Amino acid sequence: MGRLVVVSNRTANLTKKSQAGGLTVGIVDALKSQDGLWMGWDGRISEDISAPKQEKYDNVTTLTTSLTPEEHEKYYLGFSNKVLWPAFHYRLDLMDYRTEFADCYASVNERFAATLAPQLKQDDVIWVHDYHMIPMAAKLRQKGCGNKIGFFLHIPFPSIDVFSAVPRHEWLRSCLLQYDLIGFQTVNDVQNFHRYLKEHSDADIISPELVRVDGRTIHIGHFPIGIDVKQFAQTSSKPDDTVELERIRRKMLKRFQIISADRLDYSKGLPHRIKAFRKFLDLYPEYQGHAEYLQIASPSREDVTAYGDIKSELEQLAGAVNGKFADFNWAPIQYINRSIARSKLAPLFKSSLIGLITPLRDGMNLVAKEYVAAQDDADPGILILSKFAGAAEELSEALIVNPYDINDVAQAIQKAATMPLAERQLRHRKLLKRVTEHDAQWWQREYLDALLGKTERPQLIH
Ligand code: G6P
Repeated sequence: MGRLVVVSNRTANLTKKSQAGGLTVGIVDALKSQDGLWMGWDGRISEDISAPKQEKYDNVTTLTTSLTPEEHEKYYLGFSNKVLWPAFHYRLDLMDYRTEFADCYASVNERFAATLAPQLKQDDVIWVHDYHMIPMAAKLRQKGCGNKIGFFLHIPFPSIDVFSAVPRHEWLRSCLLQYDLIGFQTVNDVQNFHRYLKEHSDADIISPELVRVDGRTIHIGHFPIGIDVKQFAQTSSKPDDTVELERIRRKMLKRFQIISADRLDYSKGLPHRIKAFRKFLDLYPEYQGHAEYLQIASPSREDVTAYGDIKSELEQLAGAVNGKFADFNWAPIQYINRSIARSKLAPLFKSSLIGLITPLRDGMNLVAKEYVAAQDDADPGILILSKFAGAAEELSEALIVNPYDINDVAQAIQKAATMPLAERQLRHRKLLKRVTEHDAQWWQREYLDALLGKTERPQLIH
């Protein structure tokens, strides 16, 4: 294999490894070993986009460009985050489609492709990430690129009725079919794509994992993304005085902590979760004064109206629960509306009896895997996980809940709070085994081996 070339909307800051999440860890390792190139948006908005920036760090070259204010509005906030993101997360009600959004989305992909194409060498292998970049292969092919190009979708691929409601879905489909390998997070995503192709394309569908179009063969597969388990476990074990002090305080007062950490996004189910916690306090009053729920919600995409709406809704809901139940020395909900350093997050996960991860839809949800990796085998916490998180396909020993069913979630909290140590340990060992087997390095190896045709992946779907 030649160089690995990665294209994604954002590139990571390679000088800050300790802050890196699973995606970054997996990709950076692969880039380092292949003398790789990573292209994407530098996170800036500027009228001057004339000169893309090239930098080399630790064997990896980054090629970045800013977005113009118009591109930021129509490509990033517009088609990516007001059309594709809500639709792929089953929120057609929040979809705000305008033709200029789709046009700009196509033209930013064209511009990225035009910037990248002159840099490509014949044996480079190109790996494109996520919903912002679906047309990248089509744009590169138009420029004569015959290289292997793979695509990985980090978010869910929705059911046929939902995807076919996205304006220009036929164009998106034809763009996807320009890749050599289309990777999804879960078997369910592969099945959704398969059903959609059967209904809406004249491609020659050999199996859910193999399609032929215009003499080209396209492989399709699921590759559940993982985290750097060792690194996260190490971070969770580094002593943090303030977290430790809180843990001791809770122990003395016979209290326990429930933790959730999400980007503040409507797909994460935060209002449902607060309502479920309220229901838990109502149904099981013996936990009033004993259960403490810590919700960390890091701000995200604040220029999109739906994100502002969810922020005010949450503040109201959390305020109402505290107003109703709090005592002078106990507040049931601690709501933090900013991001927390991973060095603090990991020990916080470790010191929480319950990890409450209940998105309404999620491609994978790496927080669920991080919560598992942070636990101490001697006294592990319990993961409560939404059946609509991609991670639920792998993490079946978690308490799996329907996040729309507030009673179901409230009862799961009660079950977790009373679960005997032996059962917690048994579940944790199984979960940790799976999270460790399918870590970030495994994910990138599996994907790249499949893209290079090195593995004959078992046919999982018939
Ligand atoms: C999700 C997407 C990523 C995206 C991230 C942060 O995880 O799958 O592609 O980078 O959210 O969102 P943002 O809009 O800030 O890049």
